[in-house]
Amino acid sequence: MSNPATVSHAVDADGIGWITFDDPASRANVFNPPTQAALRAAIEALAAEPVKAIVALSGKEKIFIAGADLKWLGKIATPAEGKVASRAGHALFGLLENFKMPVVCAIHGACAGGGFELALACHWRLASDAKETVIGLPEVGIGLIPGWGGCARLPRLIGAKAAVDHILKAQLLPAAEAHKTGLVDEIVPAAELRARAKAAALKLAASGKPARAPGAPADATFFAEQRKVALSRMRGQPAPLAVLDVIEQGAGAPLDVALELEATLFGEIAAGEVAHNLVHVFFLKDAVKKLTVDAWFAKPVNAVAPAPFQKIGVIGAGVMGSGIAQWCAARGYRVVMRDVKPEFVDRGLAVIKGLFDEAAKRGKMSADAAAQGAARVQGTTELDALADCDLVVEAIVENVAAKQALVAELSRVVRADCVLASNTSALPIDELAATATHPERTIGLHFFNPVSRMPLIEMVLSPHTTRETAERALAFAKHLGKTPVICRSSPGFLVTRVLFFYLNAACELWEQGVPTDVIDRAMRDWGWPMGPMRLIDEVGVDVTDFIYGEMRHYFPARFRSTSVCAKMLAAGMKGRKNGASSGFYIYDGGKEALNPAMASFAPAAAKSMDATAIQGHLNGVMIAETKRVLDEGVLKTADDADFALLMGTGFPAFRGGLMRYARAHGRV
Ligand code: NAI
Repeated sequence: MSNPATVSHAVDADGIGWITFDDPASRANVFNPPTQAALRAAIEALAAEPVKAIVALSGKEKIFIAGADLKWLGKIATPAEGKVASRAGHALFGLLENFKMPVVCAIHGACAGGGFELALACHWRLASDAKETVIGLPEVGIGLIPGWGGCARLPRLIGAKAAVDHILKAQLLPAAEAHKTGLVDEIVPAAELRARAKAAALKLAASGKPARAPGAPADATFFAEQRKVALSRMRGQPAPLAVLDVIEQGAGAPLDVALELEATLFGEIAAGEVAHNLVHVFFLKDAVKKLTVDAWFAKPVNAVAPAPFQKIGVIGAGVMGSGIAQWCAARGYRVVMRDVKPEFVDRGLAVIKGLFDEAAKRGKMSADAAAQGAARVQGTTELDALADCDLVVEAIVENVAAKQALVAELSRVVRADCVLASNTSALPIDELAATATHPERTIGLHFFNPVSRMPLIEMVLSPHTTRETAERALAFAKHLGKTPVICRSSPGFLVTRVLFFYLNAACELWEQGVPTDVIDRAMRDWGWPMGPMRLIDEVGVDVTDFIYGEMRHYFPARFRSTSVCAKMLAAGMKGRKNGASSGFYIYDGGKEALNPAMASFAPAAAKSMDATAIQGHLNGVMIAETKRVLDEGVLKTADDADFALLMGTGFPAFRGGLMRYARAHGRV
């Protein structure tokens, strides 16, 4: 069924035909069969009129065309179905490319995937200089390949090497960069886009479609090299290899041959497990924006939006406290950070300044904004300085007695409506809240390290936490730009518990004689960014050993004791944080190598275990623990667990999520 309102057409007094994308039912324009039918109808109608040229543009404020409708794309079940979808796009955009008169594409807002493939089929491309104008082919990022002419047309426009680079990076480029790369022909002020597009259309109407020199091809060595890189960087993912195939084989062939190859490979990829997984992950991320606390609390009769936090207190100026304080200040909050000694406060403030300087250096914010951000954090040793905070996040040592003592002290200092949050990585929030005057205003906000780079926050509800407290904390987490997952208070919540059961199981294999590099390679080959032994070096042997102790305490029947980390710690080896040769690996000059010092803790005989068995065992430990967490009601759904592990542990997105993987492969 076509919905003509999504695409409209008109002819102006100067004989220019205008095609406008403006879906009345959505803030975005996306391509799906109804929009395609509407575009076809518009082109056919204009073909019957005496137009001199066509301009295609969007009526939306921030979006040209966001790409294909992923709800529709994610349902492609067979390669044949995918091929038909690709060919349909080719045929449609072919109508523009072969239109009797020139076609100009006027881009303002996001022009992604199928949107840019439409632009590629036009004869001239203008982009507005607005900051919301971002352009490109991001398909590989969700496991797909550009399938409506992107792989076939882009190398013809900008050359094979630049096309490979752009498509494999899978990033949208701001207008200026898109212009530099050759994706568009002109950049114009946003306010002049229509007028300039019309001028370009009239010019082409007079001079004819522009002749373009074909983009430079690349040789076989280039493609061989790119395949090697894709195999190591995007292990297990077929899309990058398919892109390289279409570009290499399509280069010397006529366009229709290249398009047909693109259609075949698009069909195979779109119907495959990896694309379905990555589209699923896309929707998991999208769902966070709409996350509410409704699954956990009865709906109030008269809902009023709870008051947002204005001033944030952070207690502890260590690794996490300074990271949290900096991130809050960067998002505009006023922050008071307290530690017990002035030198600890100063060290934390220096870390914060360093983080702001770094953000400015990397172009994430202006130098002015960085200076203002750093100035929003006030350091103190006085607890009284937190008296007017709306939220206090404690990030002191991981110790129940210390945290309980602090909560009692804080309860005397803060306002009655202040929310007290703990950043504990494993301790049950109800235990910590035992000394609070207002346990209903206590909650866990478990940030991950480093705070500036890790998106996840586990938002932990104790049995006392009220809906209002949870709503305020959720709004805060969203305002911070983080992705929250809500769970019930329970030791280790989800991520710490599952991750450290996994790391401990890896230590167990190690103690049985399976070598460090064999364990790590197996898990990397499965898709993890790093193996578990290397991850222990990163997290810190001290932190790992400490959390093992917590896990043993809370799960005495099931958390089997391993001792390698305790032995390393006794020998002063804390992992990467304290020197080149302090972990399972040595890190010298940026290169990592096995640490020979580990031999003294290893069993005499090595044990051989193949990669599949290692992967099966270690994944199995994670699956079993996650299943228990879900059975205990710590999280509401398997999707929540998958999302938290994706965001908090580096679980490979192309596997779609731990429990989704487990279901698909008969592991639960
Ligand atoms: P840290 O040892 O770097 O910092 C703790 C700071 O708290 C120290 O500067 C200490 O002087 C200060 N402190 C202790 N008692 C205090 C009090 N009563 N008032 C004010 N300051 C006090 O510790 P880190 O790594 O920042 O961890 C803090 C909390 O965050 C712990 O609960 C930990 O489990 C949790 N966490 C740690 C992560 C990590 O990767 N380091 C990740 C997520 C959570």
